[in-house]
Order: sequence, then structure tokens, then C-alpha cells
Amino acid sequence: MTVNRRDFCKSSLTLAAAAGVASLVPGTLSCSNPNSKVVVGLIGCKGMGFSNLSRFMDQPDVEVAALCDVDENVLNKRALDVEKRMGKKPDLYKDFRKLLERKDIDAVIIGTPDHWHCLPFVYACEAGKDVYVEKPIANSIGECMIMAKAARKYNRVVQVGQWQRSGTHWQDAIDYVHSGKLGQIRTVKTWAVMSWLKPTPKQNTTVPAGVDYDFWLGPAPERPFNPNRFHFHFRWWWDYAGGLMTDWGVHLIDFALYGMNAARPNSIMATGGNFSIDKAAMETPDTMTTIYEYDNFMLQWEHAIGIDLGPYKRGHGVAFIGDNATLVVDRGGWEVMLEKAGKKAELVEVPRTKGDGKDHPKHVRDFLDCVKSRKTPKASIEIGKNVAMVAQMGNLAYRAQSKIHWDEKNFKFDNELANSLIYPNYRAPWSLPKL
Ligand SMILES: NC(=O)c1ccc[n+]([C@@H]2O[C@H](COP(=O)([O-])OP(=O)(O)OC[C@H]3O[C@@H](n4cnc5c(N)ncnc54)[C@H](O)[C@@H]3O)[C@@H](O)[C@H]2O)c1
Repeated sequence: MTVNRRDFCKSSLTLAAAAGVASLVPGTLSCSNPNSKVVVGLIGCKGMGFSNLSRFMDQPDVEVAALCDVDENVLNKRALDVEKRMGKKPDLYKDFRKLLERKDIDAVIIGTPDHWHCLPFVYACEAGKDVYVEKPIANSIGECMIMAKAARKYNRVVQVGQWQRSGTHWQDAIDYVHSGKLGQIRTVKTWAVMSWLKPTPKQNTTVPAGVDYDFWLGPAPERPFNPNRFHFHFRWWWDYAGGLMTDWGVHLIDFALYGMNAARPNSIMATGGNFSIDKAAMETPDTMTTIYEYDNFMLQWEHAIGIDLGPYKRGHGVAFIGDNATLVVDRGGWEVMLEKAGKKAELVEVPRTKGDGKDHPKHVRDFLDCVKSRKTPKASIEIGKNVAMVAQMGNLAYRAQSKIHWDEKNFKFDNELANSLIYPNYRAPWSLPKL
């Protein structure tokens, strides 16, 4: 027999209280019955939101109670998809605040565009929900800080959608980096190049039927409707996201920081432009190089849209370049290539070792297990916050067109424009959460 997690926890709590042993943190029901169901709701149902929900539905202990989207077309289609999989139609909402009022929902998945992560996240934490939130956790450094604070304040279990963190081969690669065998690591390269992305300019149009465009814009500035700024394509506009620098940057820079045990850089330089794709189709640069300076190494980010030949003939990856050898890891696997100069006799090449391709399902499973055990998931809010801040800093250096220095103690840059973008200006009636 399966029981709802909240019901199970409630009865456990009553028993524990009766026995005088309840030492539970308020608002956090410690509960480890492996058979209890985790009841979930999805906010933002189109691309990655639904891809996540599909992995949730693969698990035996998940019940889907509700879906929320501001596009009725997406919402109705996804409702049918869920009904087909689960045999029961979920309740449907346009306004995420209504979904969050539901007492039976344990956890929410946030799959909205980046400008719409912070508010649902903070409200969900306030409502006592655990959260699986997509990356980058936010569209500004300030929002990242607010979200991490909310998760701490309300003691929530949070998994960020950086699913490589649950990948065995990624962890093997990082263990190798931490072993010190590569020698002094002087540079870490991170990159993503993508030939399948080639947006072209489009005319403004009327808003498609069934879409609440004002709600889709939410805290972002009011703009005429253009398909190039809407579903999926929002990622190429500063109002909603940060281009490939933050989109893929957080996945890969996360491992650079993890490997180097690093957090914020001392300074950041970035250059690039829209060399191949019309600025009317994509505001964020189609080509970009960012250099982060740390005390004893340099971190590079490189991206290009419209081509696919990246360093080491890989479309994306992380390369730790040491005095003895270079380790390269990507979603497919990892390997170690030896330096010829100063070759160490005891060091042997590690041939390419493939991943098992199960990183995403494992990531979802890790979250569900942590919802029950109250442990910290593999891609915690702190991990998501740290890397999103660093990726955002790349964009701030690019937009400031200047080398910028970060002052961690005073939480500011030595650059006026970069400082002005630390916190976004929310469009009324929305306002940045105050905690
Ligand atoms: N982890 C990964 O590998 C991965 C992969 C792709 C995308 N993502 C992330 O997922 C997020 C979504 O990207 P996508 O490509 O799936 O976007 P998408 O445009 O395909 O889907 C976003 C959905 O959110 C809905 N939405 C917008 N505002 C809303 C609101 N206020 N309330 C409810 N629904 C709202 C939209 O109508 C749309 O259906 C982004 O943050 C992106 O970076 C992560």
C-alpha cells in the first residue's frame, strides 16, 4: 500500500509527539518511509519543465497533482500527456500562486524562463514546498542571493537542474582532478558550441490565442510580442536570460569551480559579439570569450552559436590543464591526456571512459530521496547560486565592456554599469521578494 508523504509524516509526527520524542524542525517533516508518495506540481510545462516531470513520472513514488502554465495550449497538451502516463488528469492553473496554496503538494518543479525563477521559488519556499528549480537559478546575482536565503530561511530541500552533478563519470573526473595527478592546474577551459541554433529575425505579431503574455512577461519590461523572444528563444534576450554564457555556462563552469574548490573570481573580462547571427534575432552574443582571474589559475569560457567544432573536437566540455596532463570531461565521458614535456613516469593516460547516460534520472531520484530524508541534494541551492553568480559576472563584464573586479566583502564591482545590474528592476505589480 502507498501513502501520501504528508499523511504519513503527519501520523508519524502525532505518534512521535505522543511518545514525547518529536524534535522536528518546524515546517520540515522528517520522514523516511520509502513507500510514501511525493505529490508534485509543475510550474512552466513546455520544454525542460516537462522533461523533468517525465523523469519524475518514471519513479514509482510520484503523484502529479497539478500543472501551471500561462500558455493554455501548452497546459492542455501537457495535461493530456500526464493523464496518458498516470491515468489521472492533474488540476490546471494559470497562476502559480494558486497552485502553491494547495496543501497536498509536497514539491514543485520550476521550469519557467530564467526571469520567472525567483518569485515562484521564494513563494514556494514560503509555502513549505520543496523545490526542483531549473538552472541558471536566476537572471541576476541579486536574485541568486535572495533565493538561497529563502531556501535557508524556510529550511527547504532544493535540487537545481544541473543534473551532471548526479553523473558518475563527472564525479570520477573530479575525483581525479582532486587527486593532484594533473600537477599544478594553471587553466581551466569551459566551452559550448552549437550549430543547430540559427535564429533569424521575425516580425512582431499579435499574441497567440490562449497565451497570457502579460503574465509571461511578469517582472520583465513590457515589449511587443515577438516569437523570437517567446518559448525557448527567450534565452537570447537580457530581459529574460543570459544567452549561452549562463544557459550552458552554469552546467560546465560548475565543474570548473568544483574541481578547483573555487567560488567567486577576483576579476572578469569578456569580449565577443553578434558576428554570425543578426542582432534582431538574438541580443546576447553569438560568439563570446570570458576570462575569470583567480589567485592561482585562470578560468576561460568560450561559446559560439551556428558552428560545432569546439576545443578537443568536442561541442562542449571542461578541460583542466595541468603541468603533467590535461583532463577533459563532457556529457559523453572523460579522459586524461599526458603532457610530453616533463612527463611523469608514474602517470598513465586515462582512455575515454563513457558515462552511463543516466545522469538526469539519477538527479531526479536524488531529489525525491532527499525530500524524504531531508538531506541536501547533489546540486544544492548553494551550488546553483555560486555558479549562476559566476556565469552572470561573465555577462556583466561583457555588457560593461570593461575588465571588472569583484569585491566580495562589499558585494559590488568597481564598475557602475555592472553594479546597476546586480539587482533587476521588476515591473509592477511584481516586486523583488524581501526576506
Ligand atoms: N537542465 C537542463 O539541462 C535544461 C535544459 C533546457 C532548459 N533548461 C532551463 O529550463 C528553463 C525553461 O527553459 P525551456 O527551454 O524549457 O523554456 P520553454 O519556453 O520551452 O518553457 C517555459 C514554459 O514556462 C511557461 N511560463 C512562462 N512564465 C510562466 C509563469 N509565470 N507561470 C507558469 N508558466 C510560465 C511558458 O509558457 C512555457 O510553457 C530555463 O531556465 C532553461 O535554462 C534547463
